[in-house]
Amino acid sequence: MHYPYQLKSFEAYQAAYEKSVQDPETFWAEIAEHFLWKKKWDKVLEWNFKEPRVKWFQGGKLNITENCLDRHQAALGDQPALIWEPNDPEAGHRILTYGELLFKVMQFANVLRNNGVKKGDRVCIYMGMIPELAIAILACARIGAIHSVIFAGFSAQSIADRIQDAQASMVITSDGAYRGNKIIPLKAVVDDAMVGCPSVKNIIVYTHTRLPVSMIKGRDLWWEDEIRKVEKQGNPFLQAEEMDAEDLLFILYTSGSTGKPKGVVHTCAGYMVWANYSFVNVFQYQPGQVHFCTADAGWITGHSYIIYGPLSAGATTLMFEGIPTYPDAGRFWEIIQKFGVDILYTAPTAIRSLMGFGEGPVHGKKMDSLKVLGTVGEPINSEAWHWYDQHIGKHQCPIVDTWWQTETGGVMISNLAGVTPSKPTYATYPLPGVQPLLVDEHGREIEGNGVSGNLCIRFPWPGMLRTTYGDHERCRQAYFSTYADLYFTGDGCLRDEEGMYRITGRVDDVLNVSGHRIGTAEVENAINMHSGVVESAVVGYPHDIKGQGIYAFVIFNGFHENESLTRQDVLQTVTRVIGAIAKPDKIQFVAGLPKTRSGKIMRRILRKIAEGETTNLGDTSTLLDPGVVEAIMEGRIS
Ligand code: PRX
Repeated sequence: MHYPYQLKSFEAYQAAYEKSVQDPETFWAEIAEHFLWKKKWDKVLEWNFKEPRVKWFQGGKLNITENCLDRHQAALGDQPALIWEPNDPEAGHRILTYGELLFKVMQFANVLRNNGVKKGDRVCIYMGMIPELAIAILACARIGAIHSVIFAGFSAQSIADRIQDAQASMVITSDGAYRGNKIIPLKAVVDDAMVGCPSVKNIIVYTHTRLPVSMIKGRDLWWEDEIRKVEKQGNPFLQAEEMDAEDLLFILYTSGSTGKPKGVVHTCAGYMVWANYSFVNVFQYQPGQVHFCTADAGWITGHSYIIYGPLSAGATTLMFEGIPTYPDAGRFWEIIQKFGVDILYTAPTAIRSLMGFGEGPVHGKKMDSLKVLGTVGEPINSEAWHWYDQHIGKHQCPIVDTWWQTETGGVMISNLAGVTPSKPTYATYPLPGVQPLLVDEHGREIEGNGVSGNLCIRFPWPGMLRTTYGDHERCRQAYFSTYADLYFTGDGCLRDEEGMYRITGRVDDVLNVSGHRIGTAEVENAINMHSGVVESAVVGYPHDIKGQGIYAFVIFNGFHENESLTRQDVLQTVTRVIGAIAKPDKIQFVAGLPKTRSGKIMRRILRKIAEGETTNLGDTSTLLDPGVVEAIMEGRIS
């Protein structure tokens, strides 16, 4: 495959950017021409940010899997589409060619159809990082079912919440998942979730770890049995469902500053164009290269840059089941050597954690296949950036620092590898089609360079979210109501003298722990579920490896046999309600929380205490009881 829209020089980028702002409709129509449509669109764009209403390529008909699989068959049918490296390095990797992947997707799409799944139905996928996860996702897309992937670290309660919100009729899982030296009993977790999920008619279970599972007659089905039935039926060819450009492709739940996670909705055509365009341009992918994105497909990064972006570009995508430190901290470098990886895309947290092991694990690994490095998910600190550049890229590989969000579908601000300038810790310039601006707290635009403010976007791009599932008003409230006629990202940002952007972190009550998004309100709700807890307040604090750690201030009323045991109980409660990723790093038991006279918790003060600030806590005069603050400071956990 070649990519006529791949920008190959800074001048080409500038010209494309200019055109994307002056004449966005022509710009995107020309790019969309390079995809496979069952019917071309009637109208490129219709939008307003008030409702909000955004429609790209209206009237167009397509199926994203024809773009990811069918159209590559002639030229790439026997080329590797997906390389899979298992958790256990001895277990043997798998390679699926474009031909094999299409065949398996069609087979499993038949399984879904045989079990009554139709276009528009919601299917929840709760699996580890195995090829069948990609197959399940693509099979849903093939028949027009809306997939909702749930990261395999979430608890039964979190699964139940998501299933209920989406009213999913089917769950796809496996017996268990390997993660380092642990086996996670996925099916058992799903079983626990089922108590409150009457919408689910079937659970399909793939055999992976051979962990014993309970299988309920009439509800639970083995993946392998269902495939055998399809084999008996004969040719599994399955015509891809004709989808409207704006039909729903998937829902992905993500945390906000209030309430339960919301189901971010992406639609078929715009998302496809955006995932592909950003993949081809940011990483400067060249045919034949191996792209290794280390994210989990349970997050947006995996959706866009393990599956839809690379496959729509006919690329070879590498999927890794395990963790960077198993069996040792050289695992990533081992994989790069083994498969001759060209592009490595990972998170600052992983880099910082591997940095901690020194250069030893890198030594002796042949990594000269690497051409491009990338980071995503959180701000990268200068030390980690330089370590990545020196020890992994050997100063030969451009590093793309890609800023984006679940809601944006694909990369928004990033340098284009080797094509546009890079600057350590800066995401640099917006991609064509992205019109960022900075505003002050009143929503006034901050113009010029060398300034900072809240990051907003003023014009739609094809990959933006369309709604939050089942609650459009929540979408409007969360993203389009803070500042009139602008999409608000929730991030703080600075723009340097050259107009380059640097994301400084969330300005709302959303934490970013190891690149995972968690709402403080969500963690507080989970802590408050513990029977002995009266009230809690959660804030983030700088953490050397995770970027941000979670600090919880908890008023406990129950019987304190021993503080450390109580702490364990609270942690266990959070694990049960959300999942281990939301466990606080520090829990301080307090007698009271700093509140204003109207009863609002003053998180600003708690944040400062958690950060270790001892003197300058700002204005405390509006506090109901200033004495509380001193007591909290005395008990601070360092
Ligand atoms: O705060 C920003 C941070 O991650 C948030 C989005 O999280 P999520 O929806 O889970 O998506 C993560 C993967 C795209 C953003 O609001 N973030 C993401 N990328 C960067 C970043 N912060 C700084 N630099 C980045 N490159």
